Amino acid sequence: MMSEMLQIALPKGRLGEKVYKMFAEAGYECPEALEDTRKLIFENKEAGVCYFWVKPSDVAIYVERGAADIGVAGKDILMESKPEVFELLDLNMGKCRLAVAGKVGFYDRTEHTLRVATKFPNITMDYYGRRCRDIDIIKLNGSIELAPILGLSDVILDIVETGKTLKENNLEPFETVAEVSARLVANRSAYQFKYEAISRLLEKMKALVEAKK
Ligand code: PRP
Repeated sequence: MMSEMLQIALPKGRLGEKVYKMFAEAGYECPEALEDTRKLIFENKEAGVCYFWVKPSDVAIYVERGAADIGVAGKDILMESKPEVFELLDLNMGKCRLAVAGKVGFYDRTEHTLRVATKFPNITMDYYGRRCRDIDIIKLNGSIELAPILGLSDVILDIVETGKTLKENNLEPFETVAEVSARLVANRSAYQFKYEAISRLLEKMKALVEAKK
């Protein structure tokens, strides 16, 4: 018989810790997971869970390929890489938005190709494709806000949470592309083979999300 132990990929970082606490509250505790060590895998046999910390943008890959049965990934990453996973639940945390932003007062002269710096080339392509706007995508991996300041791009398409980074760099948001939050996702075959364990966890997480609203 297949093990009902759930393999769970959590995003490393502040959001991941909040997410872990939610799993713990739902009855899937593994206190060592929050200890300050370099260990990456934590198991609690009694609770039937094994957690591992991965780079947030890699969670969907672990889940899609079945190295993890379930995981938590931002909607931004899911929109960008469109992994073949089941999106089970909006955890209503890690809320932010994807927005187009640029220098305060920037005016888009549509006769020119718009240079857009972003970590999200596919979302950017979809967004401007739907608007039939010619763009030149400049793919960066971080500190996207620098691009319009240095003249590397006209605008950026990036995550805005509090808006502080934009403000402190004399930039402003122009358009909201999508609302983002953390999502519980499952590997497609694990969802069948470990259906009982996953749906038990899902029901508990759903109840917690509702209670926190
Ligand atoms: C994200 C995003 C913005 C910032 C927005 O960056 O790319 O830079 O957070 O947050 P705010 O609206 O609250 O200021 P992240 O910390 O993920 O780093 P990176 O994109 O530069 O790697």
